[in-house]
Amino acid sequence: MRQETKHQLVAAAVEARKQAVAPYSRFRVGAALLTATGAVVTGANVESASYGLTCCAERVALFKALTQGERNFVAIAVVARLAKGPMPCGACRQLLAEYAPKAIVWVADSAKPAGVRTFKIAALLPEAFRKVTPR
Ligand code: THU
Repeated sequence: MRQETKHQLVAAAVEARKQAVAPYSRFRVGAALLTATGAVVTGANVESASYGLTCCAERVALFKALTQGERNFVAIAVVARLAKGPMPCGACRQLLAEYAPKAIVWVADSAKPAGVRTFKIAALLPEAFRKVTPR
């Protein structure tokens, strides 16, 4: 993947983070998904007064993209104001393993977006549970 693509996607995540709705944690996260056709779909975390209902930025971006008909994902950038950037939680790793198994994960500190760390979904969630076929 081109360096330019990586930095553009991280920049889209930094921009998306501004729309986070995080009145409880005040921890804003932005995400941007890149599709095989070059489309970028962004998301940010949305929190609830019933804390457990909170949805992470990664899942918001993924659910938006899926419900726009997107199916092939090349990469996802995730940013927050955190040294080394925010690692996707277990729930997001499961959904990414199901719907974006080949996607590269780029993680960065939104205050230092030039420093990007790269991961593979398969490495973040080895031996992921997948769709079962009843017999
Ligand atoms: N959060 C994300 O949006 N993505 C991550 O990768 C980690 C955590 C959100 C959930 C919650 O709104 C806030 O960060 C604090 O946990």
